[in-house]
Amino acid sequence: MNIILLGPPGAGKGTQAQRLVERHGMRQLSTGDMLRAAVKAGTPTGLEAKAVMERGELVSDALVSALIGDELDAMGEQTGAIFDGYPRTAAQAETLDGILNARGRKLDHVIELSVDEEALVERITGRFTCASCGKGYHDTFEQPKVPGTCDKCGGTEFKRRPDDNAETVRTRLAEYRAKTAPILPIYEARGIVSKVDGMSPMDEVTAAIETILKA
Ligand code: AP5
Ligand code: ZN
Repeated sequence: MNIILLGPPGAGKGTQAQRLVERHGMRQLSTGDMLRAAVKAGTPTGLEAKAVMERGELVSDALVSALIGDELDAMGEQTGAIFDGYPRTAAQAETLDGILNARGRKLDHVIELSVDEEALVERITGRFTCASCGKGYHDTFEQPKVPGTCDKCGGTEFKRRPDDNAETVRTRLAEYRAKTAPILPIYEARGIVSKVDGMSPMDEVTAAIETILKA
């Protein structure tokens, strides 16, 4: 099964993708995570992407599509893919069709997480992740059970993203509205879009997604 999680920054794509990975052994393909890893490693891709990401703008279509193709090639043919943060433009959506066709895969579901924009700034500026295993947390919505210690791996160091400030979030939202939201009709025309209320508590969002995947 191959699915796209679509929604604005902070909608919960990463949160839900992590849960699907744990429950179904699917693989999360987050172009944001891949780009951040490239920035950290100082690769040519990372050097090209760093400033663009810090401004909250989109990096080039060619760059991210290459990352996705490589990642798919590195995983088992039977392993399901969860596309998180990709595709983000009409050009990327078209490229993804070609990438999947070339590998004998098809898109089963596009899950749109719909959210109130006002809630997103709080969600994004409050989040942090475990520096060791990457598990996500939030100052208000999901603190580690033992303060200062990761529930999943016991790590004690946490980090925040440089683009998670109120000003950059506004640019990211504008990019979403202008370039990403317009790709929904492409998938609606194929009858594979399901809408989920991303404002519900996390467990309810997960349950709604599970229902769609079982259908
Ligand atoms: P990327 O890393 O993809 O960021 P994003 O799309 O802005 O998405 P986020 O990771 O911010 O949000 P999310 O929906 O995953 O929310 P989360 O689950 O963490 O992209 C970063 C940058 O990389 C881009 O700006 C661009 O420059 C570049 N880039 C990446 N892909 C690209 C592409 N394809 N093309 C071009 N450029 C690209 O949730 C947020 C918080 O809310 C968490 O703390 C969570 O705990 C909390 N939360 C989640 N769900 C709920 C809930 N139901 N109730 C309460 N709280 C919740
Ligand atoms: Zn951890």
